[in-house]
Amino acid sequence: MSKPLGHSNKIMKINLLLNKRKPEARFLDEMRLVLYDQKWYKSVKHPECFGVYDVYRRLRKEKDLRYDITVIPAKMLGREFPKTKGHSHSNVQELIWVLEGRAFYFAQKGQGNSIKDCYVIEAKKGDILTIPVGYDHLTINPSKKKLIMANWISEKAKYDYSLFDRFQGACYYYTNKGWVKNKNYKKVPKLKLKKPFKLMPKKFKLFIQSIN
Ligand SMILES: [Fe+2]
Repeated sequence: MSKPLGHSNKIMKINLLLNKRKPEARFLDEMRLVLYDQKWYKSVKHPECFGVYDVYRRLRKEKDLRYDITVIPAKMLGREFPKTKGHSHSNVQELIWVLEGRAFYFAQKGQGNSIKDCYVIEAKKGDILTIPVGYDHLTINPSKKKLIMANWISEKAKYDYSLFDRFQGACYYYTNKGWVKNKNYKKVPKLKLKKPFKLMPKKFKLFIQSIN
């Protein structure tokens, strides 16, 4: 019986899997609206050729769930650490785990630019977490090494990128000077620090077992 990919130390297996597939690349020009360092952005000659991260979608499928892998290299975006564009899916939650490297998972909830709750989960290789329904969220690579992460999510997920596009990203940025509040938000609470799961929750454990 093969082990679940997300819990395997066999990074070779992941690399083999990824080598056979073509990722969807996210380029810097598509990230323009959510970046902290706009001055730096303007200095980049070809933002349409500057790859920020790669997503390998549907590496596996189970019922209405799909398994994706995202790779975020340690390439600074000016003064800001590399990140995903960020979105919300108001209808489903998402199960995430870190395969290689370190990650900050940032999540916020509110009404427009008035935020009621925001937190960051600091995670490392092997850690598992979920993103709750309705939270706008993004992933940051805060390290000098490549981050590889995986997720299971329903095909029914409806993605919404509009909030971060409208207010130039999330209500906090992670920069070379640490966390910085985004001034485009009217109300920003103190940033809470949360931890990933200590143990895999039973319902996810049963799911992972059932597909291997
Ligand atoms: Fe998501």
